[in-house]
Amino acid sequence: MTDTATPLGGPPHADGGLGSQIAARQVTVRAPVAAELADGPFLRACRREPVPHTPVWFMRQAGRSLPEYRKVREGIGMLDSCRRPDLVTEITLQPIRRHGVDAAIFYSDIVVPLVAIGIGLDIVSGVGPVIDEPIRTAADVERLRPLDPGDVPYVTEAVGSLVGELGAVPLIGFAGAPFTLASYLVEGGPSRTHARTKALMYGDPELWHALCGRLAAIASAFLRVQVEAGASAVQLFDSWAGALSEADYREYVQPHSARVLAELAETGVPKIHFGVGTAELLPAMAQAGADVVGVDWRTPLAAASRRIGPDKAVQGNLDPAVLLADRNIVEQHVARVLADGAAAPGHIFNLGHGVPPETDPDVLTRVVELVHERSVRP
Ligand code: CP3
Repeated sequence: MTDTATPLGGPPHADGGLGSQIAARQVTVRAPVAAELADGPFLRACRREPVPHTPVWFMRQAGRSLPEYRKVREGIGMLDSCRRPDLVTEITLQPIRRHGVDAAIFYSDIVVPLVAIGIGLDIVSGVGPVIDEPIRTAADVERLRPLDPGDVPYVTEAVGSLVGELGAVPLIGFAGAPFTLASYLVEGGPSRTHARTKALMYGDPELWHALCGRLAAIASAFLRVQVEAGASAVQLFDSWAGALSEADYREYVQPHSARVLAELAETGVPKIHFGVGTAELLPAMAQAGADVVGVDWRTPLAAASRRIGPDKAVQGNLDPAVLLADRNIVEQHVARVLADGAAAPGHIFNLGHGVPPETDPDVLTRVVELVHERSVRP
């Protein structure tokens, strides 16, 4: 981290020169900063409180489209980069500096805790996580031992460093939800149909629940490490839950995701729960215990909010493909998402899924400006 003199995330902090005064590994945030952090637009929106403007961040903002990201990753494997606190800190901060987003997402991957407990896997460029020995039997499930904070010291260190650097900008910790993790482990890699995963789920429910129970414990421990090191909110990614019917989701998946979220309740941090293609699942996902439900681009936020109910905020849902269209198209779609989101009791602007790798970073910066300008409240 080199640029500590520049305050992150927009206007200078009230106490000035914050970044340069905070040692990189200090975990505790000073009281005035803590108050500013808790009262910022992102955390206020999570709590469904009035905001000066709609907060915005982007899934996959750390990585992918940024040239400065590609530069620091040169010659370093994805999983290796996740185990280097200096790189994790730098990559997490890059989109904050560049776009002025209202929250940082921790740079890591949903499979990092699996690697940390000894599951052999690699992240293959352009493919995703590939598992050496897929998990399909009771003996395989036994290999999924609990995650101890001592397994991921680099996460504790990176979060501590980030919290110091970020000052009043909140850091979102994250984990993969049991179903999405199970899909990678059972299939052995990315899958469009999740057929083997579902076959296990239907064919051997007892083994399925044992698998998801272990994954819930791992996800919950991974989130707890991040919150204890200073993350201000968490997001549980059930990216592929949309492959299930509502009935199957409720029977086979929701109890495990609910357990992950319940185990975080005592920390008091807001919990976001997100999946793709979940129009039919939104009420069930909300009932898993999130404070904020992430919505993909298929469901307008006003409709999503009606399905979810008045006691949750929504997050989303610009179609990521819109980022590749002309400027005026981007503006129209941003305006529409804001108008729809205004019907919800709290709205965090985001994409409906991650930033496409080919996105022009200037378009993301422009989206942040548009969201801030067009949502400003008197
Ligand atoms: O693509 C990048 O942003 C570069 C770094 C990278 C990450 N994961 C960071 C990440 C890479 C190459 C991966 C590998 C990976 N892992 C992929 C992409 C494969 C490819 O090359 O396109 C995928 C799909 C996974 C599995 C995974 N990781 C899922 C399903 C999720 C949940 C979010 C989602 O996209 O549905 C993750 C989380 C993740 N991977 C995050 C980051 C920084 C955190 C979430 C976020 O930034 O929003």
